[in-house]
Amino acid sequence: MDKKSLFINGEWVQASHYTTLTSPYSGEVIAEIPAATPEEVDAAIAAAYAAQGKMKSLPAHARAEILSKLASLLEVRGEEAARIIALEAAKPIATARGEVSRTVQTYRFAAEEAKRIHGETLPLDAAPGGENRVAYTVREPLGVIGAITPFNFPMNLVAHKVGPAIAAGNTIVLKPAGQTPLSAFFLAELLQEAGLPAGALNVVTGSGRVVGDLIVTDERVQMVTFTGSPAVGIGIRNKAGLKRVTLELGSNAALIVDKGVDIQKIIPRCVQGAFAFQGQVCISLQRVYVHEDLYEDFAKAFMAATNRLTAGDPLDPKTDVSALISPADVDRTLAWIEEAKQHGAKVITGGKAVGNVLLPTILLDVDPAQKVSCQEVFAPIVLINKIGSVDEGIALVNDSRYGLQAGIYTDNIHTALMAAQQLHVGGVMINDIPTFRVDHMPYGGVKESGTGREGLKYAVEEMTEMKLVVFNRN
Ligand code: SIN
Repeated sequence: MDKKSLFINGEWVQASHYTTLTSPYSGEVIAEIPAATPEEVDAAIAAAYAAQGKMKSLPAHARAEILSKLASLLEVRGEEAARIIALEAAKPIATARGEVSRTVQTYRFAAEEAKRIHGETLPLDAAPGGENRVAYTVREPLGVIGAITPFNFPMNLVAHKVGPAIAAGNTIVLKPAGQTPLSAFFLAELLQEAGLPAGALNVVTGSGRVVGDLIVTDERVQMVTFTGSPAVGIGIRNKAGLKRVTLELGSNAALIVDKGVDIQKIIPRCVQGAFAFQGQVCISLQRVYVHEDLYEDFAKAFMAATNRLTAGDPLDPKTDVSALISPADVDRTLAWIEEAKQHGAKVITGGKAVGNVLLPTILLDVDPAQKVSCQEVFAPIVLINKIGSVDEGIALVNDSRYGLQAGIYTDNIHTALMAAQQLHVGGVMINDIPTFRVDHMPYGGVKESGTGREGLKYAVEEMTEMKLVVFNRN
């Protein structure tokens, strides 16, 4: 069996404690993973701290070169990377291949961003007393970045933290999700080959209480960037003191379908948005509010397309939907479906599990107070409710603890612009589902969906400090 090591200061270090990693789909043991002790986490942070100077003095072209090389290495080993994702996360292999392609692009964007980190000149003489001075700003790396990443995009959401951190000249202590450490170790291997200085990336696996807490509270770590649940994110924020914190948290993403829209055209996209990677995506389509003129036809077409999906083994190329990340999530989501049914919801397809695979589930007429509507389901469950107007839809979308992205399909430009203005989210998708992301766009939310933005340019801003320089010519 594959026994992994911690990656500290450019070396693979045997750990003192191990846990077993099992496949979410088959339950088979797939690797032994280090459960880092406080001393091992301390060594990783110390290595990142010591490497700060080296990274800060690396010129932009050299940082860009490392990131480009990483992207090329990943491209060459793309199939291996996709199989790692499929195995540890139960992501259907076709979707895993898509994630690898995106990851290559994310590192390429990071390489480009490394070359355009700049400040501005300031007209200080706009204020009396500011005459005869030349002023400019520069952006400097923060130092050590603590990155705590989720299971759902084990390569690309790591890339969204590691890529901009290296582009900006920082060092990193990475704690990948407990279920998906193999992707992170694979990245460390590639980055070593790409020529990243020792200590610039350290990968420590283990429990959130030990590894996560130490990263968040250690004074040598200047910033924490986290993707995961609001509960953990709020805990991080409370413990992080004056550290900079970026939080990409969850959502119960919603879509409005206005009257007059061509349903047949949008159904395949909606089904993909609801069920890709078993709905375990922060912007997965969870709530659909459809104008009453189209409601019946929309629900029927959605169900027909859903029933054509294939559930099964993530390594089978025909599989569209596979296992949830844990058996506990299967139990939780079945209980949430049951609760919604007891409050009047109708299940028109799915609603049951085969092993750890929750079958794609569509609910109609869901009471907004039910968990499947007001919490993040993170599972292949979508609800379709009827609305009398777009105004009603907007009110329902906004009636949420979350606000990551929302979508609206409409043929009316005035309605589109009004929705863009009134939807209280980080990103509004006009004529698309909320589940749209390309990797250089700003990505992040409002309310309990988090603070800060990812997307390479925006993440580099978060991971650098502005410094002002003023020359007095008097
Ligand atoms: C997420 O789940 O927040 C990431 C979605 C994506 O990158 O497509």
